[in-house]
Amino acid sequence: MSDNNVSPKMTLEAIKYTEGHLKILNQLLLPTETRYQDVKGVKDGWEAIKEMKVRGAPAIAIVGVLSLAVELSQKQFESKGELLTFIQEKLEYLKTARPTAVNMKEAADRLCKLTEMLCERNDSTVETIRERYIQEAEAMMDKDVSDNKNMGHHGAQHILEHCSEDKVKVLTHCNTGSLATAGYGTALGVIRALHDQDKLDHAYCTETRPYNQGSRLTAYELVHDKIPATLIADSAVSMAIKEKKISAVVVGADRVVANGDTANKIGTFQLAVVAKYHGIPFYITAPTTSIDLNLGTGDDIIIEERKQNELTTIKGIQVAAPGIDCWNPAFDVTPAGLITGGIITEHGVFKPEELNAKLENYEINKKHKC
Ligand code: MRU
Repeated sequence: MSDNNVSPKMTLEAIKYTEGHLKILNQLLLPTETRYQDVKGVKDGWEAIKEMKVRGAPAIAIVGVLSLAVELSQKQFESKGELLTFIQEKLEYLKTARPTAVNMKEAADRLCKLTEMLCERNDSTVETIRERYIQEAEAMMDKDVSDNKNMGHHGAQHILEHCSEDKVKVLTHCNTGSLATAGYGTALGVIRALHDQDKLDHAYCTETRPYNQGSRLTAYELVHDKIPATLIADSAVSMAIKEKKISAVVVGADRVVANGDTANKIGTFQLAVVAKYHGIPFYITAPTTSIDLNLGTGDDIIIEERKQNELTTIKGIQVAAPGIDCWNPAFDVTPAGLITGGIITEHGVFKPEELNAKLENYEINKKHKC
Protein backbone atom coordinates (compact mmCIF):
# COMPACT_ATOMS: atom_id res chain seq x y z
CA MET A 1 0.00 0.00 0.00
CA SER A 2 1.43 3.42 -0.92
CA ASP A 3 1.73 6.29 1.57
CA ASN A 4 -1.26 7.78 -0.09
CA ASN A 5 -3.63 5.03 0.90
CA VAL A 6 -5.85 4.99 3.97
CA SER A 7 -5.83 1.58 5.60
CA PRO A 8 -9.27 0.42 6.76
CA LYS A 9 -7.90 0.23 10.33
CA MET A 10 -6.68 3.84 10.42
CA THR A 11 -8.70 6.84 11.53
CA LEU A 12 -9.77 8.81 8.50
CA GLU A 13 -7.85 12.05 8.18
CA ALA A 14 -8.83 14.71 5.66
CA ILE A 15 -5.98 16.96 6.77
CA LYS A 16 -2.42 15.96 7.66
CA TYR A 17 -0.23 18.69 9.06
CA THR A 18 3.22 19.03 10.57
CA GLU A 19 4.92 22.43 10.84
CA GLY A 20 5.69 23.68 7.33
CA HIS A 21 3.90 20.76 5.63
CA LEU A 22 0.20 20.36 4.82
CA LYS A 23 -1.49 17.55 2.92
CA ILE A 24 -5.15 17.04 2.12
CA LEU A 25 -7.00 13.93 1.10
CA ASN A 26 -8.32 14.76 -2.38
CA GLN A 27 -12.06 14.20 -1.86
CA LEU A 28 -12.81 14.46 -5.57
CA LEU A 29 -11.22 11.02 -5.97
CA LEU A 30 -13.09 9.28 -3.14
CA PRO A 31 -14.39 6.64 -2.71
CA THR A 32 -12.40 4.84 -5.40
CA GLU A 33 -9.00 6.38 -4.77
CA THR A 34 -7.40 7.68 -1.57
CA ARG A 35 -4.70 10.12 -2.57
CA TYR A 36 -3.17 12.87 -0.46
CA GLN A 37 -1.82 15.98 -2.13
CA ASP A 38 0.47 18.74 -0.89
CA VAL A 39 -0.84 22.21 -0.13
CA LYS A 40 2.26 24.36 -0.45
CA GLY A 41 0.70 27.71 0.29
CA VAL A 42 -2.37 29.93 0.13
CA LYS A 43 -2.90 29.61 -3.63
CA ASP A 44 -2.98 25.81 -3.35
CA GLY A 45 -5.27 26.08 -0.32
CA TRP A 46 -7.69 28.44 -2.10
CA GLU A 47 -7.83 26.18 -5.16
CA ALA A 48 -8.35 23.00 -3.11
CA ILE A 49 -11.27 24.68 -1.33
CA LYS A 50 -12.80 26.15 -4.51
CA GLU A 51 -12.54 22.85 -6.40
CA MET A 52 -13.91 21.00 -3.36
CA LYS A 53 -10.89 18.72 -3.00
CA VAL A 54 -11.41 19.64 0.63
CA ARG A 55 -14.90 20.62 1.71
CA GLY A 56 -17.12 20.86 4.77
CA ALA A 57 -17.27 24.13 6.70
CA PRO A 58 -14.74 23.37 9.49
CA ALA A 59 -12.23 21.65 7.16
CA ILE A 60 -12.33 24.60 4.74
CA ALA A 61 -11.33 27.02 7.53
CA ILE A 62 -8.61 24.75 8.92
CA VAL A 63 -7.02 24.12 5.52
CA GLY A 64 -7.26 27.83 4.70
CA VAL A 65 -5.43 29.06 7.82
CA LEU A 66 -2.91 26.20 7.73
CA SER A 67 -2.08 26.94 4.09
CA LEU A 68 -1.06 30.40 5.25
CA ALA A 69 0.90 28.91 8.17
CA VAL A 70 2.88 26.82 5.65
CA GLU A 71 3.64 29.89 3.56
CA LEU A 72 4.62 31.94 6.63
CA SER A 73 7.06 29.28 7.78
CA GLN A 74 9.02 29.67 4.53
CA LYS A 75 8.99 33.42 3.91
CA GLN A 76 11.16 36.25 5.23
CA PHE A 77 9.69 39.62 6.27
CA GLU A 78 11.52 42.92 6.66
CA SER A 79 9.13 44.44 9.19
CA LYS A 80 6.05 43.82 11.31
CA GLY A 81 4.07 46.03 8.94
CA GLU A 82 5.02 43.90 5.97
CA LEU A 83 4.05 40.73 7.84
CA LEU A 84 0.71 42.22 8.91
CA THR A 85 -0.19 43.31 5.36
CA PHE A 86 0.76 39.88 4.04
CA ILE A 87 -1.41 38.07 6.58
CA GLN A 88 -4.35 40.45 6.05
CA GLU A 89 -4.26 40.11 2.26
CA LYS A 90 -3.93 36.32 2.27
CA LEU A 91 -6.75 35.82 4.78
CA GLU A 92 -9.00 38.19 2.82
CA TYR A 93 -8.27 36.15 -0.33
CA LEU A 94 -9.01 32.83 1.41
CA LYS A 95 -12.44 34.15 2.42
CA THR A 96 -13.38 34.46 -1.26
CA ALA A 97 -13.01 30.76 -2.13
CA ARG A 98 -16.52 29.73 -1.01
CA PRO A 99 -19.00 32.24 0.39
CA THR A 100 -21.69 30.35 2.32
CA ALA A 101 -19.89 28.66 5.23
CA VAL A 102 -18.91 31.23 7.84
CA ASN A 103 -16.02 29.23 9.35
CA MET A 104 -13.31 30.58 7.04
CA LYS A 105 -14.45 34.15 7.65
CA GLU A 106 -14.62 33.57 11.40
CA ALA A 107 -11.07 32.20 11.48
CA ALA A 108 -9.71 34.89 9.14
CA ASP A 109 -11.24 37.76 11.12
CA ARG A 110 -10.07 36.33 14.45
CA LEU A 111 -6.50 35.73 13.24
CA CYS A 112 -6.35 39.14 11.58
CA LYS A 113 -7.41 40.84 14.80
CA LEU A 114 -4.87 38.86 16.78
CA THR A 115 -2.07 39.77 14.36
CA GLU A 116 -3.01 43.45 14.46
CA MET A 117 -3.02 43.39 18.23
CA LEU A 118 0.37 41.64 18.37
CA CYS A 119 1.88 44.09 15.88
CA GLU A 120 0.91 47.02 18.10
CA ARG A 121 2.84 45.61 21.06
CA ASN A 122 6.33 47.06 21.57
CA ASP A 123 7.76 43.73 22.73
CA SER A 124 6.65 41.79 19.62
CA THR A 125 8.92 40.94 16.68
CA VAL A 126 8.34 39.53 13.20
CA GLU A 127 9.46 36.17 14.60
CA THR A 128 7.14 36.12 17.65
CA ILE A 129 4.14 37.21 15.56
CA ARG A 130 4.81 34.62 12.88
CA GLU A 131 5.17 31.90 15.54
CA ARG A 132 1.97 32.98 17.27
CA TYR A 133 -0.01 32.85 14.00
CA ILE A 134 1.31 29.35 13.32
CA GLN A 135 0.45 28.19 16.86
CA GLU A 136 -3.10 29.58 16.62
CA ALA A 137 -3.64 27.94 13.23
CA GLU A 138 -2.36 24.60 14.51
CA ALA A 139 -4.53 24.82 17.64
CA MET A 140 -7.64 24.86 15.45
CA MET A 141 -7.13 21.17 14.65
CA ASP A 142 -7.33 20.01 18.29
CA LYS A 143 -10.08 22.48 19.18
CA ASP A 144 -12.22 21.25 16.28
CA VAL A 145 -11.92 17.60 17.35
CA SER A 146 -12.72 18.40 20.97
CA ASP A 147 -15.74 20.56 19.93
CA ASN A 148 -16.95 17.69 17.75
CA LYS A 149 -16.69 15.20 20.61
CA ASN A 150 -18.63 17.57 22.87
CA MET A 151 -21.33 17.97 20.20
CA GLY A 152 -21.44 14.20 19.84
CA HIS A 153 -21.99 13.82 23.56
CA HIS A 154 -24.65 16.57 23.87
CA GLY A 155 -26.46 15.52 20.70
CA ALA A 156 -26.59 11.81 21.57
CA GLN A 157 -27.84 12.56 25.08
CA HIS A 158 -30.56 14.93 23.81
CA ILE A 159 -31.78 12.51 21.15
CA LEU A 160 -31.93 9.61 23.61
CA GLU A 161 -33.82 11.73 26.15
CA HIS A 162 -36.38 12.85 23.58
CA CYS A 163 -36.96 9.64 21.63
CA SER A 164 -38.99 6.81 23.06
CA GLU A 165 -36.84 3.98 21.63
CA ASP A 166 -33.92 2.41 23.50
CA LYS A 167 -31.84 2.43 20.30
CA VAL A 168 -32.40 5.07 17.66
CA LYS A 169 -32.40 5.29 13.88
CA VAL A 170 -30.89 8.49 12.58
CA LEU A 171 -30.98 9.98 9.09
CA THR A 172 -28.25 12.36 7.93
CA HIS A 173 -27.47 14.37 4.79
CA CYS A 174 -24.28 15.41 3.02
CA ASN A 175 -20.96 14.68 4.75
CA THR A 176 -20.23 16.06 8.19
CA GLY A 177 -17.70 13.51 9.39
CA SER A 178 -13.94 13.21 9.69
CA LEU A 179 -13.66 14.24 6.05
CA ALA A 180 -15.45 17.54 6.68
CA THR A 181 -13.59 18.42 9.89
CA ALA A 182 -10.29 17.82 11.68
CA GLY A 183 -11.78 14.53 12.91
CA TYR A 184 -14.85 12.81 14.43
CA GLY A 185 -17.35 15.10 12.71
CA THR A 186 -20.38 17.18 13.68
CA ALA A 187 -23.68 15.48 12.74
CA LEU A 188 -21.77 12.31 11.93
CA GLY A 189 -20.06 12.77 15.30
CA VAL A 190 -23.49 12.53 16.95
CA ILE A 191 -24.08 9.27 15.05
CA ARG A 192 -20.61 8.05 16.13
CA ALA A 193 -21.37 8.93 19.78
CA LEU A 194 -24.67 7.01 19.64
CA HIS A 195 -22.88 4.05 18.08
CA ASP A 196 -20.09 4.17 20.71
CA GLN A 197 -22.77 3.99 23.43
CA ASP A 198 -24.44 1.07 21.65
CA LYS A 199 -27.53 3.26 21.24
CA LEU A 200 -27.55 3.45 17.45
CA ASP A 201 -29.89 0.99 15.82
CA HIS A 202 -29.10 2.20 12.30
CA ALA A 203 -27.89 5.24 10.36
CA TYR A 204 -29.37 6.27 7.02
CA CYS A 205 -27.47 8.57 4.69
CA THR A 206 -28.77 10.31 1.62
CA GLU A 207 -26.86 10.34 -1.67
CA THR A 208 -26.79 14.15 -1.56
CA ARG A 209 -27.03 14.98 -5.22
CA PRO A 210 -25.62 16.63 -7.17
CA TYR A 211 -22.18 16.24 -5.63
CA ASN A 212 -22.87 12.94 -3.85
CA GLN A 213 -21.13 13.79 -0.58
CA GLY A 214 -23.49 11.24 1.03
CA SER A 215 -22.87 8.26 -1.25
CA ARG A 216 -19.19 9.00 -1.87
CA LEU A 217 -18.02 10.31 1.50
CA THR A 218 -20.48 9.63 4.33
CA ALA A 219 -21.10 6.08 3.12
CA TYR A 220 -17.30 5.65 2.93
CA GLU A 221 -16.88 6.79 6.54
CA LEU A 222 -19.75 4.63 7.79
CA VAL A 223 -18.33 1.54 6.08
CA HIS A 224 -14.80 2.40 7.22
CA ASP A 225 -15.94 2.69 10.85
CA LYS A 226 -18.28 -0.32 10.66
CA ILE A 227 -21.34 1.70 11.71
CA PRO A 228 -24.58 -0.06 10.68
CA ALA A 229 -25.87 2.08 7.84
CA THR A 230 -27.91 2.22 4.66
CA LEU A 231 -27.64 4.60 1.72
CA ILE A 232 -30.86 5.98 0.26
CA ALA A 233 -31.65 8.21 -2.72
CA ASP A 234 -32.52 11.79 -1.78
CA SER A 235 -36.00 11.15 -3.12
CA ALA A 236 -36.52 8.18 -0.74
CA VAL A 237 -36.45 10.21 2.49
CA SER A 238 -40.18 10.41 3.19
CA MET A 239 -40.64 6.73 2.43
CA ALA A 240 -37.65 5.81 4.61
CA ILE A 241 -38.91 7.79 7.60
CA LYS A 242 -42.28 6.03 7.34
CA GLU A 243 -41.14 2.51 6.51
CA LYS A 244 -37.89 2.31 8.48
CA LYS A 245 -39.26 4.19 11.49
CA ILE A 246 -36.47 6.74 11.61
CA SER A 247 -36.27 8.46 15.01
CA ALA A 248 -34.55 11.77 14.14
CA VAL A 249 -32.84 13.72 11.37
CA VAL A 250 -29.41 15.16 12.25
CA VAL A 251 -27.49 17.36 9.81
CA GLY A 252 -24.62 19.85 9.87
CA ALA A 253 -24.45 23.57 9.13
CA ASP A 254 -22.50 26.01 7.05
CA ARG A 255 -23.88 29.10 8.75
CA VAL A 256 -26.40 29.48 11.56
CA VAL A 257 -27.59 33.10 11.93
CA ALA A 258 -28.97 35.04 14.89
CA ASN A 259 -32.60 33.92 14.57
CA GLY A 260 -31.56 30.26 14.12
CA ASP A 261 -32.12 30.06 10.34
CA THR A 262 -29.46 27.69 9.01
CA ALA A 263 -27.67 27.31 5.69
CA ASN A 264 -26.60 23.77 4.94
CA LYS A 265 -26.21 21.48 1.93
CA ILE A 266 -28.93 21.78 -0.70
CA GLY A 267 -31.78 19.47 0.22
CA THR A 268 -31.60 20.15 3.95
CA PHE A 269 -34.66 22.44 3.86
CA GLN A 270 -36.84 19.76 2.29
CA LEU A 271 -35.61 17.20 4.86
CA ALA A 272 -36.78 19.52 7.63
CA VAL A 273 -40.20 19.93 5.99
CA VAL A 274 -40.53 16.16 5.68
CA ALA A 275 -39.37 15.56 9.28
CA LYS A 276 -42.03 17.98 10.51
CA TYR A 277 -44.72 16.21 8.45
CA HIS A 278 -43.74 12.88 10.02
CA GLY A 279 -43.46 14.38 13.53
CA ILE A 280 -39.81 13.45 14.12
CA PRO A 281 -37.20 15.86 15.52
CA PHE A 282 -34.89 17.70 13.16
CA TYR A 283 -31.49 18.72 14.54
CA ILE A 284 -28.73 21.00 13.28
CA THR A 285 -25.22 20.26 14.56
CA ALA A 286 -23.02 23.34 14.49
CA PRO A 287 -19.84 24.28 16.37
CA THR A 288 -19.89 27.94 17.39
CA THR A 289 -17.39 28.59 14.57
CA SER A 290 -20.35 27.97 12.22
CA ILE A 291 -22.61 30.44 14.06
CA ASP A 292 -22.80 33.99 12.72
CA LEU A 293 -24.68 36.32 15.03
CA ASN A 294 -23.89 39.28 12.75
CA LEU A 295 -26.60 38.23 10.32
CA GLY A 296 -30.20 38.55 11.46
CA THR A 297 -32.01 36.06 9.24
CA GLY A 298 -31.32 33.44 6.61
CA ASP A 299 -32.25 35.94 3.86
CA ASP A 300 -28.89 37.66 4.52
CA ILE A 301 -26.84 34.53 3.76
CA ILE A 302 -25.05 34.40 0.39
CA ILE A 303 -25.82 31.07 -1.25
CA GLU A 304 -23.06 29.70 -3.46
CA GLU A 305 -24.17 28.61 -6.91
CA ARG A 306 -21.93 26.06 -8.58
CA LYS A 307 -21.25 25.11 -12.16
CA GLN A 308 -23.93 23.43 -14.25
CA ASN A 309 -21.66 20.51 -15.10
CA GLU A 310 -21.71 19.34 -11.46
CA LEU A 311 -25.38 18.59 -12.13
CA THR A 312 -25.19 17.37 -15.71
CA THR A 313 -22.13 15.10 -15.48
CA ILE A 314 -20.74 12.51 -13.06
CA LYS A 315 -16.96 11.95 -13.36
CA GLY A 316 -17.12 13.39 -16.87
CA ILE A 317 -20.06 11.22 -17.98
CA GLN A 318 -23.10 13.12 -19.24
CA VAL A 319 -26.17 12.23 -17.14
CA ALA A 320 -28.53 15.00 -18.28
CA ALA A 321 -29.86 15.98 -21.68
CA PRO A 322 -27.20 18.11 -23.41
CA GLY A 323 -28.40 21.69 -23.77
CA ILE A 324 -30.76 21.70 -20.75
CA ASP A 325 -30.45 24.79 -18.57
CA CYS A 326 -29.56 24.04 -14.90
CA TRP A 327 -29.77 25.83 -11.59
CA ASN A 328 -27.27 24.47 -9.07
CA PRO A 329 -27.38 26.19 -5.66
CA ALA A 330 -24.96 24.37 -3.32
CA PHE A 331 -26.88 25.22 -0.14
CA ASP A 332 -30.34 26.13 1.10
CA VAL A 333 -31.64 27.81 4.23
CA THR A 334 -33.79 25.91 6.70
CA PRO A 335 -36.06 28.29 8.61
CA ALA A 336 -35.53 28.20 12.38
CA GLY A 337 -39.13 27.10 12.94
CA LEU A 338 -38.40 23.75 11.29
CA ILE A 339 -35.41 23.00 13.55
CA THR A 340 -37.65 21.22 16.01
CA GLY A 341 -35.03 19.09 17.84
CA GLY A 342 -32.60 21.94 18.40
CA ILE A 343 -29.17 23.23 17.48
CA ILE A 344 -26.44 20.98 18.87
CA THR A 345 -23.34 23.00 19.79
CA GLU A 346 -20.23 22.16 21.80
CA HIS A 347 -21.85 24.01 24.73
CA GLY A 348 -25.16 22.15 24.66
CA VAL A 349 -28.36 21.80 22.63
CA PHE A 350 -30.40 24.96 22.21
CA LYS A 351 -33.71 25.89 20.64
CA PRO A 352 -33.12 28.31 17.72
CA GLU A 353 -34.89 31.11 19.59
CA GLU A 354 -32.61 30.77 22.65
CA LEU A 355 -29.35 30.58 20.70
CA ASN A 356 -28.40 34.25 21.10
CA ALA A 357 -28.99 34.35 24.84
CA LYS A 358 -27.36 30.98 25.53
CA LEU A 359 -24.20 31.83 23.60
CA GLU A 360 -23.83 35.30 25.10
CA ASN A 361 -21.10 34.17 27.48
CA TYR A 362 -18.95 32.51 24.86
CA GLU A 363 -16.39 34.09 22.53
CA ILE A 364 -18.26 33.63 19.30
CA ASN A 365 -18.49 35.02 15.86
CA LYS A 366 -19.83 38.45 16.78
CA LYS A 367 -18.69 41.75 15.40
CA HIS A 368 -14.99 41.09 15.03
CA LYS A 369 -13.85 42.15 11.62
CA CYS A 370 -10.44 42.54 10.05
O1 MRU B 1 -20.39 21.76 -0.29
P1 MRU B 1 -19.86 21.09 0.94
O2 MRU B 1 -19.57 19.64 0.74
O3 MRU B 1 -18.70 21.86 1.53
O4 MRU B 1 -21.05 21.19 1.97
C1 MRU B 1 -20.89 20.65 3.24
C2 MRU B 1 -22.09 20.79 4.10
O5 MRU B 1 -23.08 21.36 3.74
C3 MRU B 1 -21.94 20.29 5.51
O6 MRU B 1 -23.16 19.83 5.99
C4 MRU B 1 -21.46 21.43 6.41
O7 MRU B 1 -20.36 22.08 5.85
C5 MRU B 1 -21.09 20.93 7.75
S1 MRU B 1 -19.59 19.96 7.72
C6 MRU B 1 -19.25 19.56 9.32
